[in-house]
Amino acid sequence: MNPHRTEPIISFAGVSFTYAGSETPALRDVDLEIAEGEYVALLGRGGAGKTTLGLCINGVVPHMLGGDLTGEVRVAGLEVADYAVREMSKIVGIVFDNPEFQMSQLTAAEEVALGLENTGTPHDEMMRAIPEELRLVGLEGMEDRPPLGLSGGQQQRLAIAAVLAMKPRVLVLDEPTSNLDPVGKEDVFDIAGRLNRDQGMTVVIAEHEVEVMAEYADRIVVLDQGRVVLNGSPHEILPQVELLDGLDLRPPQVTRAAQVLRDEHHLWNGSLPVLTEEAVGGIERVLGGST
Ligand SMILES: Nc1ncnc2c1ncn2[C@@H]1O[C@H](COP(=O)(O)OP(=O)(O)OP(=O)(O)O)[C@@H](O)[C@H]1O
Ligand SMILES: [Mg+2]
Repeated sequence: MNPHRTEPIISFAGVSFTYAGSETPALRDVDLEIAEGEYVALLGRGGAGKTTLGLCINGVVPHMLGGDLTGEVRVAGLEVADYAVREMSKIVGIVFDNPEFQMSQLTAAEEVALGLENTGTPHDEMMRAIPEELRLVGLEGMEDRPPLGLSGGQQQRLAIAAVLAMKPRVLVLDEPTSNLDPVGKEDVFDIAGRLNRDQGMTVVIAEHEVEVMAEYADRIVVLDQGRVVLNGSPHEILPQVELLDGLDLRPPQVTRAAQVLRDEHHLWNGSLPVLTEEAVGGIERVLGGST
C-alpha cells in the first residue's frame, strides 16, 4: 500500500526464462518491482507467462522446473537463484487453481500442520496455531475433516491456511478461483483482500475476473508472450479497451458499456469507469443528474 518505501519486496531485473527443452522463452526481459503490501494482478492470455512469473517468485523456476534463466529475481532481499524452494517458501506462499492437488494429508489440521512443521514451530504452539489458522479462512472447527471431503471452495481456503501457517510475506495466487463456484470465488477474494488490507501482505494474483481485480488490485500487470506490456493502476490500464481487445483481454463490463455509450451514442463524457459505482455516477450524469 505504501509505494514510497525503500527496497521492493519483489524485483525482476532483465529476467528471461526458457523452459528446458522449449524453443520459445516463457518470460522475456521482464523488469518489475513490487512494493511490500501491494496487491498486484497479473493478466494475460493463455501462455502469456503468468504462472511462470509466479513460480520465479518462490524459486520453483528454476530450481524444480529447470531451464535457462537470465537476469535477477530478488525477493525480500534474497536472490531466488541462490536459495532452495524450501527456504523461499517461508517468505512466499503459493496457491494454485486446483485445490485437490495441493492436499496431501488425512485431516484439515494435518494439512495446516505441515506448513507449521516446515517453519519449525514447537508442538504445543502448533496445537494453538492450527485452530487459529483455520478460523482465519472460515474453516473453524473443521480440524478433523478430511480435505478431500471438503467443497472446492473450502479446499482452496484450506490450501491458503496451509501456506499462511508459514507466515509468508508474499502470497502468490495462480487463478485460485477458476475451479470454484461464485460463493467459493468470493470467499477466496475476500480472504486475500483482508490479508492484504489488514496484515499488509503482498498479494500477486493471476486472475481472469477483471471486475474483481478492478476493485482489489493496486496495480495491474499485463503479460503477452512473456513480456510485460502494460503496468499501471486499474484506472490507467482497464479503460484502454482497444489495447486490451488486442491482447484477448476484456475490460470490466461497466467499462465496455460506457465505451459503447461514448463511441456509438456520444452519451458519455470524461474518463471511462472501471468500478460499478463510478458507472452509476456517470449514468446519473447522462440521465440529467437528478442526484
Ligand atoms: N513446464 C513447462 N515446460 C515447458 N514449457 C512450459 C512449461 N510451463 C509452461 N510452459 C510454456 O511457457 C509459456 C508460458 O506459460 P505459463 O504457464 O507461464 O503461461 P500462463 O500465462 O500461466 O498461461 P495460462 O493462462 O494458460 O495459465 C507457454 O508457452 C507455455 O507453453
Ligand atoms: Mg497459468
